[in-house]
Amino acid sequence: MVSRVIPVEPFDLVIFGGTGDLARRKILPGLYRRFWAGQLPEEARIIGASRKPMSDEEFRAFAREAIDAFAIEGAGDAEMVAAFLDKLGYVAVDAKGDGGWPELGARLRDGTVRAFYFSVGPSLFGDLAERLHKYEMATPDCRVVVEKPFGHDLETAQELNGTLAKFFAEKQIYRIDHYLGKETVQNLMAVRFGNILFEPIWNAQYVDHIQITVAETVGVGGRGAYYDKSGAMRDMVQNHLMQLLCLIAMEPPNMFEPDAVRDEKLKVIRALQPVEPHHIVRGQYGQPEQEDGYRAEAGDPRSKTESFVAMRVAVQNWRWAGTPFYLRTGKKLRARESEIAVVFKPTPHSIFGDQAEPQRNVLTIRLQPNEGMELDVTIKEPGPGGMRLIDVPLDMSFAEALAEESASVPEAYERLIMDVIRGNQTLFMRGDEVEAAWAWTDPIIDGWQDRGDVPKPYDIGSNGPDDALALLHRDGRKWRDIKEHRTKK
Ligand code: BG6
Repeated sequence: MVSRVIPVEPFDLVIFGGTGDLARRKILPGLYRRFWAGQLPEEARIIGASRKPMSDEEFRAFAREAIDAFAIEGAGDAEMVAAFLDKLGYVAVDAKGDGGWPELGARLRDGTVRAFYFSVGPSLFGDLAERLHKYEMATPDCRVVVEKPFGHDLETAQELNGTLAKFFAEKQIYRIDHYLGKETVQNLMAVRFGNILFEPIWNAQYVDHIQITVAETVGVGGRGAYYDKSGAMRDMVQNHLMQLLCLIAMEPPNMFEPDAVRDEKLKVIRALQPVEPHHIVRGQYGQPEQEDGYRAEAGDPRSKTESFVAMRVAVQNWRWAGTPFYLRTGKKLRARESEIAVVFKPTPHSIFGDQAEPQRNVLTIRLQPNEGMELDVTIKEPGPGGMRLIDVPLDMSFAEALAEESASVPEAYERLIMDVIRGNQTLFMRGDEVEAAWAWTDPIIDGWQDRGDVPKPYDIGSNGPDDALALLHRDGRKWRDIKEHRTKK
């Protein structure tokens, strides 16, 4: 069991879409893990809601299966699961009608934190919000949680923000980007702003370039229909990669406080230069006719949707003038590896002359697998034969360094749901941030459509299309190898 976990306040959490895939894979197992960790108070209540008629008992059986399948091994025993299931209930509601709403209202308690998780398609947000008001469940400090995709473009994001704003204040709206809940992503802020070491050299004068890679081995699987309308740009870059870029590039906020942090992130997004077409490479996994290729899996033999994108991005401000950010993400690549690499410039003068090539310091922040950080430092290669220099890593794997605590490190969803209950919006996207991100992404996607751009095929299990390599070669640089997992076993 876990130490140092402070239970949150008593709460009523209603999960609309309570029998859906996200509830099954992430929300219910995540809540269970927090219960197991001792973070849910005795008075916590979780109510599943969806169209499907179901009894409390049936919903508990659904949750039990979800916990068995998705909560980590060793997390409690049957007794603990049963104690958690006691907190669960279920009400069938009709999002577009009046059925079930009075029953749902009757389950909620006064004077308790109240949160509504909209784990449903955005087309239902307005209906749900309207009925929460009509049936007087929407208290002034209740919270609503919404999932990505938050819109399909700037216009639809503005509409969604408008719909939510009719019913809720911005301080009540929690837009989830689960990357912000990842342990290492928050550590990025701790490392940058909790150490004197990095911040003085965190700028164009010392940083040659930054690489952000989110590589996946999975394909689109059963999500082809959704994904084919989105592509990597909308599915990953507009949100997850953009958030990583913001945290790496932003100015120090004056406080670790929701609006202070989000103001700084917004400034980064607004400082992004429009991307030139020759600074982006799109790819699609497999050859067009290949059975396990993208087109077959997406169910459209002529699909022009990208499953890979690599780009060179410029942040136009004083700190980053001249330091490119290279972003890439893709599916069915060589390995599952997400990392941010800050590649520093070489020393200005080599005292070792010709015999030693100048090396570079690289700070790598590994998101997954094996969350951790690594700093490449230059030393003398041991042994005789003059002064030859090599890079060796100073490696810190969090799991290793924090062996005891890491067993209880919450997963992204767990942390974010607890933040909703605590009323802390720091790790959630503000409406203007999401709109600014779309305003930058839209012209790129429109450009592809206008030009009839077709993504380059790339081999399954590769590093992506060769053109992505050229993107950096042209600048005299090189992508870090996706294969490398420089972690201790
Ligand atoms: C989701 C995307 O937001 O993030 C998926 O829709 C992607 O396409 C997933 O696979 C990646 O998340 P993680 O946490 O596994 O890196």
